[in-house]
Amino acid sequence: MSQTMTRITLARRPDGAPAPEDFRLEDAPMPAPGPGEVLVRVLWLSLDPYMRGRMDDAASYAQPVPIGGTMEGGAVGEVLVSNAEGFAPGDTVFGMFGWASHAVARARDLRRLDPGLAPLSTALGVLGMPGFTGWHGLNEYGRPKAGETLVVAAATGPVGSMVGQLARLAGLRTVGIAGGPDKCALATGTFGFDACLDHRAFTDAKDLRAALGEACPDGIDIYFENVGGQVMEAVLPLMNVGGRIPVCGMISWYNAGGLGMNAGGSRDMLPRTWRMILVKRLAVTGFIISDHWARFPEFLAEVGPRVASGEIAWLEDVADGLAAAPEAFIGMLQGRNVGKQVVRVG
Ligand SMILES: NC(=O)c1ccc[n+]([C@@H]2O[C@H](COP(=O)([O-])OP(=O)(O)OC[C@H]3O[C@@H](n4cnc5c(N)ncnc54)[C@H](OP(=O)(O)O)[C@@H]3O)[C@@H](O)[C@H]2O)c1
Repeated sequence: MSQTMTRITLARRPDGAPAPEDFRLEDAPMPAPGPGEVLVRVLWLSLDPYMRGRMDDAASYAQPVPIGGTMEGGAVGEVLVSNAEGFAPGDTVFGMFGWASHAVARARDLRRLDPGLAPLSTALGVLGMPGFTGWHGLNEYGRPKAGETLVVAAATGPVGSMVGQLARLAGLRTVGIAGGPDKCALATGTFGFDACLDHRAFTDAKDLRAALGEACPDGIDIYFENVGGQVMEAVLPLMNVGGRIPVCGMISWYNAGGLGMNAGGSRDMLPRTWRMILVKRLAVTGFIISDHWARFPEFLAEVGPRVASGEIAWLEDVADGLAAAPEAFIGMLQGRNVGKQVVRVG
């Protein structure tokens, strides 16, 4: 076995959008597993929007990655060496292995994968954390009812496409918002949205709102919040009384720094937003999916067969080799990914 591994560390904190120089590809000694631990070879690395937050030195629900630390990330790996009961070389597992070719992990932090259920990389997308986020956020906080209307942006990504498909299967009208005509064609074609609007075609929230109003003739009952910004501004006045807004993410502000808290704007929307929540009696619920892992088996039991049968579709965007991770990550934050962004490491 090689005596070295490769990893990508945080070289410096980004100022605005991350740049390739914020990351460093480096060699490190191959780690050795202790008692109760395994050594894995990473096969697939997940790139997720939350990682942008870990690059800022700001207080949040999780610690930032330290300068010089390995970038954090969920990954699929193959066990090479096991000192843990229940795991053997050749087993495929999910764990937080980071942006690295190899990692040591404790057995209790691993989830064993069934390679027969679906391709292993889906454990990072449709059958992993993002798919689970869409399922939990929609059902728990969106509380969908047949005949209602749902709007979700980043509609072709792993969260948005899960939300849209589950809502359609539950009998809702689904309207996606995505970046560009090709993604909108995927939203209505592959993911079955009733309509999709290209947010890049609108320079003003008012114009986007007018188009959304036409696509949602009965108003909006559920706005699954993934992006914030202009989309949120367009949606809020169209919400029906008693509407629900699961607040999952706000990616349009992530590059503003301070986890989006530094995002400014020409107008202060807070009073108007607060008033709309009041008069429309909206239920606005923020959630962090890592608080809800206890329900993951329920998600897998329900959604796994629907993915295996093809009832729920999924798309992946594959970058090749660990060295490609920074560019792929930078691209995802700008919407260059088509489907779940993964890196084929091994
Ligand atoms: N709360 C939680 O625990 C939790 C867990 C997982 C994910 N999330 C959040 O869920 C959201 C979606 O995550 P994902 O993994 O499914 O990501 P994704 O869709 O694969 O990738 C992000 C997408 O965001 C869209 N986007 C980027 N900038 C935008 C902007 N200024 N305005 C509108 N859209 C923009 C782009 O899609 P278009 O090209 O289509 O615009 C881009 O492809 C993110 O906000 C993420 O942080 C939250």
